[in-house]
Amino acid sequence: MKHVRLSLVGFGVVGQGLAELLFTKRAHLQREFDLDVTLVSVANARHGFIYCEDGLDIPTLLELASTRRPLTEHPDIRHYTNVMQGLQSTQMDVMAEVTGTNLRDAEPGISHIRVALSQGIDVITANKGPAALAAAELFALAREHQAQLRIESTVMAGTPVISTIREGMAGATVLAMRGILNGTTNYILSAMAAGRNYAEVLAEAQAQGYAEADPTSDVEGYDAVAKVLILAAVVFRHPLKPEQVVREGITQITREQMQRAIDNGRRIKLVASLRDIPGNGSTAATVEARVESVALPLSDPLARVDGVLNAITIQTDTLQDVNIIGPGAGRLQTGQGLLADLISIARNG
Ligand SMILES: NC(=O)c1ccc[n+]([C@@H]2O[C@H](COP(=O)([O-])OP(=O)(O)OC[C@H]3O[C@@H](n4cnc5c(N)ncnc54)[C@H](OP(=O)(O)O)[C@@H]3O)[C@@H](O)[C@H]2O)c1
Repeated sequence: MKHVRLSLVGFGVVGQGLAELLFTKRAHLQREFDLDVTLVSVANARHGFIYCEDGLDIPTLLELASTRRPLTEHPDIRHYTNVMQGLQSTQMDVMAEVTGTNLRDAEPGISHIRVALSQGIDVITANKGPAALAAAELFALAREHQAQLRIESTVMAGTPVISTIREGMAGATVLAMRGILNGTTNYILSAMAAGRNYAEVLAEAQAQGYAEADPTSDVEGYDAVAKVLILAAVVFRHPLKPEQVVREGITQITREQMQRAIDNGRRIKLVASLRDIPGNGSTAATVEARVESVALPLSDPLARVDGVLNAITIQTDTLQDVNIIGPGAGRLQTGQGLLADLISIARNG
């Protein structure tokens, strides 16, 4: 049996989802993967970092979180008010970094990841900030310290895109990708295609928890840009800066434009796209990257992907088009991506 000591940094929606999966799937992991995971530490912003060498009790942690009581009420723990100090002073094999995404400077996630990788600790993360702004640096750091870094759930949550391309499609050359990579905007556009107006649907999406109180990151296309940056770095190995991605949101789309598209047999979607542009002696190779609304013909598989679902079409030299459709967010859906990364690390370690 392989034993893995896991540290969970960030204990919100996704951190709790992963913890729940580790608890409910414990026997499955032992039986199918010969893997025993002990959650040795958990951290959040309000209560700091708690550690127990023998393992924290997941039902107790989930109960504390759901009743908004301090994590420090867990018995028999060592407590560090400073999360970085906790990370540097305790033992772990893998760190799951699931603090909030910050697309300005990727903090605090990037510092947590740097500290872990520098100590040779493997990292799994759903946090888009570090992956979007510093993937090349972080993968290099991982290599330098013989650590693994896996970021599956940063794009389309647990729906496997990155591992499908890098492992399942190994050897194929990806020529281009086009996707619906933001569930909130797809939910809004799908409802607008059914005749509803933007403001009304946004308010409904906020009430149902699909959209944040401040929806800017989703509706102005920044979240989709982050995923484009991640794919540019890990699939095309061509890191881009945010300003190199053409960006358009959905706030300017009217019901009339929607109706006109429908009348023409099309659907307006917020499409994130990447295209490899090979160099030709006088010009350097580059990647064209865009997030923009496009009126797609119904023959395009992306046109029929509605609601909060995400989808991506991957164009390769050997397989031609491969389409992946699935959830792009959610507590267990994102936890699943982290779990798959954890299993992969344990297998390769
Ligand atoms: N939710 C999804 O469906 C989804 C899907 C794909 C990717 N993601 C990504 O996954 C990450 C987590 O998302 P989420 O929905 O779980 O967010 P969330 O509910 O807001 O949770 C974030 C957690 O990070 C903690 N935190 C913030 N600053 C910290 C610090 N300096 N040290 C330690 N902990 C800190 C917060 O502490 P407090 O609890 O004290 O505030 C909270 O527990 C984000 O980067 C997000 O973009 C989420």
